[in-house]
Amino acid sequence: MRLSLRLWVASVLVLTQLVHGALCWGKDGHYTVCKIAEGYFEEETVAAVKKLLPESAEGNLAEFCSWPDEIKKLSQWQWTSALHYVNTPEYRCNYNYCRDCHDTQKHKDWCVTGAIFNYTQQLMSASENSHTLVQYNLTEALMFLSHYMGDVHQPLHTGFLGDLGGNTIIIRWYNLKTNLHHVWDNMIIESALKTYYNSSLPLMIQALQAKLTNGWSNDVPTWESCQLNQTACPNQYASESIGLACKYAYRNATPGTTLGDDYFLSRLPVVEKRLAQGGIRLAAILNRIFSAKTKAL
Ligand SMILES: *[C@@H]1O[C@H](CO)[C@@H](O)[C@H](O)[C@H]1NC(C)=O
Ligand SMILES: *[C@@H]1O[C@H](CO)[C@@H](O)[C@H](O)[C@H]1NC(C)=O
Ligand SMILES: *[C@@H]1O[C@H](CO)[C@@H](O)[C@H](O)[C@H]1NC(C)=O
Ligand SMILES: *[C@@H]1O[C@H](CO)[C@@H](O)[C@H](O)[C@H]1NC(C)=O
Repeated sequence: MRLSLRLWVASVLVLTQLVHGALCWGKDGHYTVCKIAEGYFEEETVAAVKKLLPESAEGNLAEFCSWPDEIKKLSQWQWTSALHYVNTPEYRCNYNYCRDCHDTQKHKDWCVTGAIFNYTQQLMSASENSHTLVQYNLTEALMFLSHYMGDVHQPLHTGFLGDLGGNTIIIRWYNLKTNLHHVWDNMIIESALKTYYNSSLPLMIQALQAKLTNGWSNDVPTWESCQLNQTACPNQYASESIGLACKYAYRNATPGTTLGDDYFLSRLPVVEKRLAQGGIRLAAILNRIFSAKTKAL
């Protein structure tokens, strides 16, 4: 039984590697963020995550990190679709929680940063008061937090309201007609996989993991830390994202343009760094929630 489950998970893995971009960061981006995070979990975090996921998952969080995308079209989950992003007013290259974090009906806190605060708080309070009644489904809280931590690091998930974070900017990616948001969710990663990694997601993840222990090793502690000892600091991540959206994503990508090698080669390092930062920070948050060792620091 265990073996066949393992085989099933393995074949799902193979399938997801073959069918790139079918799902709406895309499936590969979210898988990468969570896989990188897993490598930085403290022992107690590993145990807590394993306990929250279904037994068949065997603690493999990355398999569950696209769940919020898979369910958001179902009517009972439609309310979550506004939680994947936050928009700034037209051409504003800064982000402000009070001004920007609401849905189209102006419900306050209804955006990606609000959701990160929300699910961090749920996991934190359950972890601190293990004897009080658990009010929320913490499995869902873990999957939402892990997913939205990926989203908030995708620059165009903090984009302008007027173009819906690049969704209405129609461009060509090489020969393919698509939109700018999709380029940042999927196409840059897909092209990188084909160009540099023999279409193997595990190879790309390995390369990022190697960078984390070499080129980026001095940056990791600064990525992990939050101002004022907060458990999570999504406002900082969203501010970085809109900055990168203005500097890299929107630049030279007006409607109708064809984006090719120049754009791909200059933006790929940004995408790689955001995937790595998302992973490091997700791990840091979960360690602060679950690990006594990290709490004591
Ligand atoms: C917080 O999480 C709960 C449980 O999923 C949900 O009902 C509520 O709408 C969430 N609020 C925000 C702002 O994300
Ligand atoms: C928690 O949520 C997951 C995913 O929606 C669901 O499969 C599970 O049954 C829920 N657990 C409880 C105790 O409701
Ligand atoms: C690239 O992938 C294919 C199919 O997965 C494999 O057969 C081939 O050996 C790989 N090439 C390299 C250079 O790793
Ligand atoms: C953060 O935590 C450290 C160690 O517990 C403490 O010394 C420091 O004063 C705290 N800083 C803030 C701004 O709360």
